Amino acid sequence: MNLFDTLAGGLYDAYIERERVARVVGQLLWGSDMSAMYRSMRQIGELPPGATVLDVPCGGGVALRGLRPGQRVRYLAVDLSPAMLRRAARVASREGLRQVEWIEASAEALPLPDATADLAVAYNGLHCFAHPAAAVAEIARCVRPGGRLVGTAIVRGELPRADRLIAAFAREGSFGPGGTRGDLERWLAEAGFVDLRLEADGAVIAFAASRT
Ligand SMILES: C[S@@+](CC[C@H](N)C(=O)[O-])C[C@H]1O[C@@H](n2cnc3c(N)ncnc32)[C@H](O)[C@@H]1O
Repeated sequence: MNLFDTLAGGLYDAYIERERVARVVGQLLWGSDMSAMYRSMRQIGELPPGATVLDVPCGGGVALRGLRPGQRVRYLAVDLSPAMLRRAARVASREGLRQVEWIEASAEALPLPDATADLAVAYNGLHCFAHPAAAVAEIARCVRPGGRLVGTAIVRGELPRADRLIAAFAREGSFGPGGTRGDLERWLAEAGFVDLRLEADGAVIAFAASRT
């Protein structure tokens, strides 16, 4: 069972949805104020009419804050956890975001045609996935040539106290095998992403890349 279907998902979502709380928690846990993540979400609202966004994993819908009510884009929100999808759907309903489509699926096997998305967003997902390299390759398949991927991931090897926490979360089951900054770069490059930009803040890497 996905731990995000349990109370753990609710607790996580309660802080990540509150930017000011997330900055404090992020600093305590990961040595990061998480500001790069919230900043990066703004580009969703700048997409032109007709664009398609792939949000994987959408979790409880934190990236929906980048979307504007009435913005004429197709927004595909994907997560493995029905409970997290329900939370995200409540956020969308509260904010009047009717353009969101909900997809219960694994990031490693997206039920989408090739080159569907103009922009993929992957916040705080890769360190949770069982097979992060496979998920990056699958996301790459679904991004059109010239499209972009942006996201954040918690990585090993940046901060010793974060490494201990990552190991504890992996033992408990909410984190997957994860990787280092170098692993993340390799997953992106091997999947066909170029123009890689990685910015570390504590153990959190904010990344951006373009699809060849
Ligand atoms: C830490 S949350 C991040 C969610 C959201 N993007 C955010 O930043 O708050 C990780 C999410 O990954 C989901 N997840 C775990 N494994 C998955 C997989 N293989 N495919 C899709 N989602 C997965 C969990 O259900 C959870 O909602």
